[in-house]
Amino acid sequence: MRSEYCGALNTEFIDQTVTLCGWVDRRRDHGGVIFIDLRDRDGIVQVVFDPDGKENFALADKVRSEYVLQVTGKVRARNGATVNKNMPTGEVEVYGTDLVILNASETPPFPLNEHNTVGEDVRLKFRYLDLRRQEMQNNLRIRSKVTTAMRNYLDDNGFLDIETPILTRATPEGARDYLVPSRTHEGKFFALPQSPQLFKQLLMVSGFDRYYQIAKCFRDEDLRADRQPEFTQIDIETSFMSDEEIMSVTEGMINALFKSQMDIELGSFPRMPYSEAIAKYGSDKPDLRIPLELVDIKDLLTDVEFKVFSGPANDPNGRIAAINISGGNDKLTRKQIDAYTKFVGIYGAKGLAYIKVNDKDDIENGLQSPIVKFLPNDVRTAIVERLGAENGDLIFFGADKANIVTESLGALRCKLGEDLDLYTCEWAPLWVVDFPMFEETDAGWTSLHHPFTAPACSPEALKANPGEALSVAYDMVLNGTELGGGSIRIHDPKMQQTVFEILGIGEEEQREKFGFLLDALQYGAPPHGGLAFGLDRLIMLMTGSGSIRDVIAFPKTQTAACVMTDAPGGVDRKQLRELNIALAAKAEKKAEEKSGE
Ligand code: AMO
Ligand code: AMP
Repeated sequence: MRSEYCGALNTEFIDQTVTLCGWVDRRRDHGGVIFIDLRDRDGIVQVVFDPDGKENFALADKVRSEYVLQVTGKVRARNGATVNKNMPTGEVEVYGTDLVILNASETPPFPLNEHNTVGEDVRLKFRYLDLRRQEMQNNLRIRSKVTTAMRNYLDDNGFLDIETPILTRATPEGARDYLVPSRTHEGKFFALPQSPQLFKQLLMVSGFDRYYQIAKCFRDEDLRADRQPEFTQIDIETSFMSDEEIMSVTEGMINALFKSQMDIELGSFPRMPYSEAIAKYGSDKPDLRIPLELVDIKDLLTDVEFKVFSGPANDPNGRIAAINISGGNDKLTRKQIDAYTKFVGIYGAKGLAYIKVNDKDDIENGLQSPIVKFLPNDVRTAIVERLGAENGDLIFFGADKANIVTESLGALRCKLGEDLDLYTCEWAPLWVVDFPMFEETDAGWTSLHHPFTAPACSPEALKANPGEALSVAYDMVLNGTELGGGSIRIHDPKMQQTVFEILGIGEEEQREKFGFLLDALQYGAPPHGGLAFGLDRLIMLMTGSGSIRDVIAFPKTQTAACVMTDAPGGVDRKQLRELNIALAAKAEKKAEEKSGE
């Protein structure tokens, strides 16, 4: 039906007759001449109809925004003032000689160039229109290019693409499961995979050696800008490769991707132990573009009279840390400091003490702060020295339970970086390594990654001191986003059982939930390990999008719903009966109300 894409036209086509197909982006009537901006997935070109082409002119007069047209015409140069420098095709236009209206369109619920003025819900309800926008077309095109490049890289490196089931048992990755009731097994449920973790390990037991899959994963968890209930992983598993080798091949993949798609050299990724990331950056996914660091000062404050400080200073679980903002004195107003105090409150911080360093050589009068009166001069001097503060700097303090200080100052660091535009570079990748095996919670020990992660010590040492044990796990972080994570796995059934025991998963539960894995580990499981990248997050970063919803064709809302298809939806009683499901009275009432609407 067409000879060229609209966006492909340029001066090389002058005097050629072309046939284009696309949508009406804009139609203007300039006193007897009709201009139509015709749009397809490659771009927009201007088409002109004048009254000499009688029938066509009459038709062109009828078309409206988003009509679908087939246009034949001659490409001609635009001259002088009519050249549109803002348009890639702006040096030419098509003089229309034939016009077919392939389909009409209702007036769209929002003009596509004014998507910002409507709520995201409207964009998602009419997603098929929202996706016509150039930005969304670009995002999905880059996504397609990236998956193709990744497939090629992995194929070149001997990886096999193998699919794993969607209807399966729970795979623990720390979120809630999406469940699917079974019709043929009364009262039983499948779980949608939170990741292909267990199946990819079994594929290693089967000897496939190098596996990958672009896999859909499902997690029922609280959503954020970088989290969806249904998302895509580039999932990788290998046998007989060390953690170093796995990091090397996957770092190579990300490097090659940035080079081929964006002409960016990421270079060699630095490694950072988890403990350093938490200490200096207050996060296990530090944004290294921001030069600010957390500095621990607990030891300086054990004897001060200010309870906000002396409390945590004398509490083994307490932490006191500070961030020095170079030149912050001028950059931050009182109002902003108050706003940051509120901000850290989100993370449980009870306040945000600060000191403005006016004259560090006059330690008696040169520091300006509501708390400085509580600090003896030697403590003031020690703080200023440890932070390396200069005149004009501003120091923020957090004092509380360690996790509150870490999280709140970690988040504040990123917020300051963004607000004050402190970024020192565009891309800052790194590997975070040496994670602890377990975290202690009210419910006992839980895995920091998943329960199949190998520890860096023996089962005996692990059992003796679970809190001290490190794992052979690694996360790839880019600009403060966790792009991917993985580990060497446990391939010894005894070690796997020890980990389950520490996690409080008894033998019966082990058999019931993971019997197949424990069995498989007894039949010659090779040493193996892997990693999974979050594809959506990767594309979000590569396209500079503010949310992963902008790089997914049909995402869910923040409340995990699809407003376009109205999913999740109700089902009729017959279907529920077949599934042996009865709704609880509350849900039943709601469903009835809904059907009566
Ligand atoms: P993990 O749980 O770290 O590891 O997930 C791997 C990567 O997937 C992305 N990701 C998400 N992206 C969007 N929305 C979500 N809800 C979401 N959750 C995770 C992140 C993350 O780094 N089986 C292990 C991997 C392994 O050990 O090989 C796993 O799933 O970018
Ligand atoms: P207050 O004694 O509560 O008036 O607090 C004095 C100063 O200490 C204020 O600037 C508070 O924001 C700050 N502050 C209070 N609690 C904390 C805390 N846990 N960590 C850091 N600063 C705090």
